[in-house]
Amino acid sequence: MADDQAKPSGPDLAAGIAFAELADGGMLAGHVGEEQVLLVRVGKEVFATAAHCSHYHGPLADGLVVGDTVRCPWHHACFSLRTGEALHAPALSPIDCWSVDQRDGKVFVTAKRTDVKPARRGKPASPAPDRIVIVGGGAAGFAAAEMLRRQDYKGGIVMLSNDDTAPVDRPNLSKDYLAGTAPEEWIPLRGDDFYADNAIELRLKANVATLDPRAREVALADGSKVPYDRLLLATGAEPVRLPIPGADQPHVHTLRSLADSRAIVALAKTARRAVVIGASFIGLEAAAALRTREIEVHVVAPDKRPMERVLGPAMGDFVRALHEEHGVVFHLEDTATAIDGKQVKLKSGGMLEADLVVVGVGVRPRLDLAEKAGLTLDRGVVVDAFLETSAPGIYAAGDIARWPDPHSGQAIRVEHWVVAERQGQIAALNMLGVREKFEAVPFFWSQHYDIPINYVGHAEKWDELAIEGDISGKDCLLRYKTKGRTLAVASIFRDLASLQAELAMERDMAASPSAR
Ligand SMILES: Cc1cc2nc3c(=O)[nH]c(=O)nc-3n(C[C@H](O)[C@H](O)[C@H](O)COP(=O)(O)OP(=O)(O)OC[C@H]3O[C@@H](n4cnc5c(N)ncnc54)[C@H](O)[C@@H]3O)c2cc1C
Ligand code: FES
Repeated sequence: MADDQAKPSGPDLAAGIAFAELADGGMLAGHVGEEQVLLVRVGKEVFATAAHCSHYHGPLADGLVVGDTVRCPWHHACFSLRTGEALHAPALSPIDCWSVDQRDGKVFVTAKRTDVKPARRGKPASPAPDRIVIVGGGAAGFAAAEMLRRQDYKGGIVMLSNDDTAPVDRPNLSKDYLAGTAPEEWIPLRGDDFYADNAIELRLKANVATLDPRAREVALADGSKVPYDRLLLATGAEPVRLPIPGADQPHVHTLRSLADSRAIVALAKTARRAVVIGASFIGLEAAAALRTREIEVHVVAPDKRPMERVLGPAMGDFVRALHEEHGVVFHLEDTATAIDGKQVKLKSGGMLEADLVVVGVGVRPRLDLAEKAGLTLDRGVVVDAFLETSAPGIYAAGDIARWPDPHSGQAIRVEHWVVAERQGQIAALNMLGVREKFEAVPFFWSQHYDIPINYVGHAEKWDELAIEGDISGKDCLLRYKTKGRTLAVASIFRDLASLQAELAMERDMAASPSAR
């Protein structure tokens, strides 16, 4: 996001450092002129790259080296040390690479390299299709289009989105953008020129009404038809609306799109009191953002503890206490029964005043197109390990896709930004005929005030919850286990351990081929 404005720190790598200072697999952050540079040793080789992640500027020196790649500590993006390519989302842009000279037992970083380009991923088993159509301009759709061009795909790409804006950084809509601490120019994933420069035909306000797998075409609501050779369905999810009287008033909002977030921001400028209905991730992130704007916030939810179902009771208590420290008032084990003008009526009999109501009571995958087209569904669009649906040539990714997750051994569907992007990337490769399975360990993050919660893996239930460190001290790692096996790990400010847990889950799967 923001450029590093800090003064360069660490050793001057152009002047050289002793090779012996770098352990195998070790990293050292220094500078070349004004630029921060990361030096990484892998065996006898030494690589030099930009020191910060191209996603939100995470410090790569605090990350993890795996083979000839480095993973970012904040949201687990992965970069090639050889080419700087962002191999795994959420970073999509490469990082700079520098030439390194080794002589007389010393390592010198010389010029920035201009000869690097992304490697081709796999060999296509079939010729590239003429035209790929992507339905959805969100995380999965965008990442797929970007990967197709990164892989030098020369055919046509049409992206159909019923949104009125080009793909945006959706997670930011309930965080810094909503809090007023991120300007709107940070929100688009790419500027408008990206689509023209990369010959991606992005059609906004294009609502796809039907999909005909036999004729290989989609029909838009305006009656026009768009043929395809391969199709990616990435229609995401939509917020569940509250079926209570008064929920359709102009000061009551769900939060999914930039338009939704803009509308809440507009009301937040004058609102004094807000009610958030639902103690979900999005509801509580919105509560934090509104508190940053110094609005009085009440959260109403039926749960005993916020986020208990996903994170367990101890983390739930922590999240509640964290929000209470920031002035949020909880009304738990209660629900809203009506919104009468500015009054939110509670089942318990209470009543809360609200100039603004944010409803965060969950989402529902958008399955209409898939359902009408006769694709196999199971609480989501069923895909195989290559993310192909039951209709050949049609792939699905992101919030709608239920895929065979080799780590949990279950077919799962999740609503995580990074998973959607990575699935979009793998679906892109498979649409080009490269047979690559989707095997990434699920990852998500959530941010409340200045506290990030990172989560790797997938545990719908567990029989043991092992807590390392101190949750209330904001320095902890929780392992969700079944029969002694770690299914998922949640952490606060234990980024390296979170990356190590992700790697251990990958290795665990690789060591038990039956899981694949
Ligand atoms: C406010 C907010 C904050 C979030 N924060 C986090 C976070 O911190 N961490 C995290 O892991 N996840 C987060 N998520 C979840 C994450 O954003 C989603 O999992 C992710 O966006 C899913 O990507 P997707 O491509 O499947 O769907 P989306 O990103 O929702 O994109 C779907 C696209 O399809 C379009 N579309 C739908 N139907 C049609 C149609 N019929 N015709 C044409 N276009 C159509 C939509 O307009 C949209 O452009 C957050 C979500 C929200 C809403
Ligand atoms: S800052 Fe590196 S992945 Fe987000």
